[in-house]
Amino acid sequence: MVKREHAIIGAATVTFLGLLVIKDGEFGVEYLFLLYFFVALFYELDARFAIGAGLFLLIGAALAIQRSEALANQIAIYAYYLLAIGVVLEVVTYIEAGGEDEEEVEAQNRKEEKVKGRIIVVTSGKGGVGKTTITANLAVALAWEGNSVVVVDGDIAMPNLDIAMGVKSAPSSLREVINGKVEIKNVLYDAYEGVKVVPCSPCLDGLTERNAKKVQAIIETLTQEFDNVLLDTPPGREAITLMNRGYEIILVVNPDQASVLDALNMKTIVERKGCKVLGAVLNMVGAVKKELDIDDIEETLGVEVFAIIPQDKKIREASVHEVPFFLYTGPESKASIEIIRLARLLKRG
Ligand SMILES: Nc1ncnc2c1ncn2[C@@H]1O[C@H](COP(=O)(O)OP(=O)(O)OP(=O)(O)O)[C@@H](O)[C@H]1O
Ligand SMILES: [Mg+2]
Repeated sequence: MVKREHAIIGAATVTFLGLLVIKDGEFGVEYLFLLYFFVALFYELDARFAIGAGLFLLIGAALAIQRSEALANQIAIYAYYLLAIGVVLEVVTYIEAGGEDEEEVEAQNRKEEKVKGRIIVVTSGKGGVGKTTITANLAVALAWEGNSVVVVDGDIAMPNLDIAMGVKSAPSSLREVINGKVEIKNVLYDAYEGVKVVPCSPCLDGLTERNAKKVQAIIETLTQEFDNVLLDTPPGREAITLMNRGYEIILVVNPDQASVLDALNMKTIVERKGCKVLGAVLNMVGAVKKELDIDDIEETLGVEVFAIIPQDKKIREASVHEVPFFLYTGPESKASIEIIRLARLLKRG
């Protein structure tokens, strides 16, 4: 790309050279090199062309020396011109890049892109299907797998992620961050396995559109610091206001028609918002005899069921003890194995 300052320098030089030529009445070859230099600067030509050509001419000079010393000297002078041009162009490029090599800048950009964490939203459509339970346990399993994880309670009206994660006391919460009273860093509470929890004190009026935008901004900031930002959501439409383009969605469903159809509606809406539905978690399996089977659920939803969590009284027991079931039942239980599988699938991307 042509930069404005280069254009000015180039135009001034061409004019200057023109004047010189007119004044002396003859045209020296040196001027051609000068012209090449400014054209290269103007069009940001690669300095390596000049250096390469210079080296090529130096070899030519070495070969020519046996035939004619004068010719060899002349070629060597041109080679030095080209090498000097190449070096100056390199220095200009280096200064413009702020002292950093172009490749170094690119490598840094790539590293920064990689560092940015992902936002995974756990949602359903229907209430009571196990969103909070899955969010808390997925958080612990991801941390167990070596990820840095923060969980955010997006169920503003009826939050209980803090209980699920065993956070006993939280003087401030997401609510105060939304209201601008405290900063997000002041509401990152320690929980199991190094997971950080952003709890929310209940706001019975629910979530306004404006506050939903603030929550989005908050969780997007958290991606700078954490590999995974997990968002627990309220049941129903309120969850949708929290979603933003690029968020990744896990649908939690129970093996019944109502839950699956509500999840399908949710999927349709979030996809319209530019979110990516990764897959589903089938929870509370085996609670009753007549249940939908996995193939039907996958076909209806059009996504893969990543994990199948049984109905297990130990899971309810764990929630009463305010401990994620992954830790309460241990990593060998059927539910924990499924959650680890989900965490590994997510880790792979
Ligand atoms: N697989 C399971 N087996 C037994 N109990 C479960 C299972 N999954 C969740 N539960 C229990 O079901 C109840 C509801 O779960 P949870 O709060 O996670 O649902 P939710 O979808 O977050 O609800 P809401 O829509 O109200 O936010 C909790 O008491 C929880 O312990
Ligand atoms: Mg919940």
